[in-house]
Amino acid sequence: MKALILAGGSGTRLRPITHTSAKQLIPVANKPVLFYGIEQLRDAGITDLGIVVGETAPEVRAAVGDGSALGVEVTYLQQEAPLGLAHAVLIARDFLGEEDFVMLLGDNFLIGGLGEFVDDFLTSDAEVQLLLTEVAEPQFYGVAVLDAQGRVERLVEKPKDPPSNLALVGVYLFRPLIHEAVAAIKPSARGELEITDAISLLIAQGARVRSRMVTGYWKDTGRLEDMLECNRKVLETLIPRIDGTVDDASRITGRVVVEEGAVIERSTVRGPAIIGRGTHVVDSYIGPFTSVYHDCVIDRTELEHSIVLEQCTIRDVTRIEDSLIGKNVEVSRSEESPKAHRLMVGDHSRIRLG
Ligand code: G1P
Repeated sequence: MKALILAGGSGTRLRPITHTSAKQLIPVANKPVLFYGIEQLRDAGITDLGIVVGETAPEVRAAVGDGSALGVEVTYLQQEAPLGLAHAVLIARDFLGEEDFVMLLGDNFLIGGLGEFVDDFLTSDAEVQLLLTEVAEPQFYGVAVLDAQGRVERLVEKPKDPPSNLALVGVYLFRPLIHEAVAAIKPSARGELEITDAISLLIAQGARVRSRMVTGYWKDTGRLEDMLECNRKVLETLIPRIDGTVDDASRITGRVVVEEGAVIERSTVRGPAIIGRGTHVVDSYIGPFTSVYHDCVIDRTELEHSIVLEQCTIRDVTRIEDSLIGKNVEVSRSEESPKAHRLMVGDHSRIRLG
């Protein structure tokens, strides 16, 4: 069995971060979202992975490489534009060959393994197996209607008037039959080849499309709130570990990971929190549910319930909460007169001054 991971897409809801970076590489508890999925596939025994990449291909390649560090073998498949999930299957035709495969959306975050779902599918006679979960706002997802036996009767993509509250989770299991369907469908109103249309076509032709409910935690990490929520969930399960340096004037409480080469001086870190390698925290307070990635400087600052990406400098700021701060960002207090907020921020940034 092979796997196809979708790591293209434009991530419009996470701009400006996604103007320059792949949304699938935003770290959750200091590990890119995409890596969680790769590890789950590997743990389910699937190591031959195709990763569909778009504009952010160089960044994804730099992070994942040939996959060997994660125990998998990666083939990159370039998609010229985000033309839909079924389009990704279409361009992966040669890579997938005649094998069964799992398709995983690289920005989906699932806690728990995939092994059970994979085994279940492989021992079934189904041509497609979908994973579903109940959601409060089904209009933002692909939505399934089931018959009494749990077979999928109908699928609709982002319906205005949802026929159920069962959303499609971004994990799909397919037999090679899907290739005929993705080749037969036409682009939808939004100009994409929809995987839901391809599966609907198979249903119309009498194929067996079964579903399984995801009982554990699942999130499409498309928005800031979702990223922060995933980060909270993972930080809550951290196994505390101090591999860096913490001076005697600092206080570390709760679940805290201080990665190698991180330095904490005259500061308080109240977990759950993770401080990345090479990061310096000086005269600061890092509160619960905070992840600071690699090589940052946090100086005379209070930071809580936030994700900070690599190489940021934050100085003299009280206080930052509920924030996602991109790479190489500098936030500091200016002593210049007149007292004013001086900003240089990217397009689509969101700044809320307290
Ligand atoms: C895609 C799928 C949708 C599915 C969702 C899960 O939507 O089209 O059917 O429910 O992923 O994350 P997108 O996130 O591309 O809007």
